[in-house]
Amino acid sequence: MDLTLLRKFQAFILIILNICLCASAVAYVHVHMTNDLGHDTIIYLHCLRDAKEMGHQQIPYKWTCQWKFEQTLSSTLLCDANLQGAKELRFLAFNESGESCRSSCGWNFTQHGVFQYDKGEWKFRYNWPH
Ligand SMILES: *[C@@H]1O[C@H](CO)[C@@H](O)[C@H](O)[C@H]1NC(C)=O
Ligand SMILES: *[C@@H]1O[C@H](CO)[C@@H](O)[C@H](O)[C@H]1NC(C)=O
Repeated sequence: MDLTLLRKFQAFILIILNICLCASAVAYVHVHMTNDLGHDTIIYLHCLRDAKEMGHQQIPYKWTCQWKFEQTLSSTLLCDANLQGAKELRFLAFNESGESCRSSCGWNFTQHGVFQYDKGEWKFRYNWPH
């Protein structure tokens, strides 16, 4: 193999290595939230990830919304959920250092409160404030 070809080969290997390293370094957290409250309800959500604005979302009955962000060592997702005519519920939807969900998290808003999908089942987490 002549030297220029060898150099090209080396450059090629470095590029491939970089692509693999970058691809494996980026992992995402997906947090899903479902409105199971009842007909004609809308849930208004607002979330902050590590105090950074994630925006607002509205979920009509039986719909699911998703929050997606890069996984870091200590991410948290803090959300406000609003129902018409009720007080706002502020809750921690994701805590990287916590015990519950890892890369995929599920929340379910129902008449009986707010449930989180944890180790294969829906667990009660919060009551709606009055
Ligand atoms: C996240 O979980 C860790 C470990 O349980 C806890 O120490 C920390 O206070 C939690 N973060 C928030 C914002 O509650
Ligand atoms: C949310 O909870 C309700 C009542 O516990 C359940 O019937 C429904 O299947 C749950 N929704 C999802 C998306 O799992």
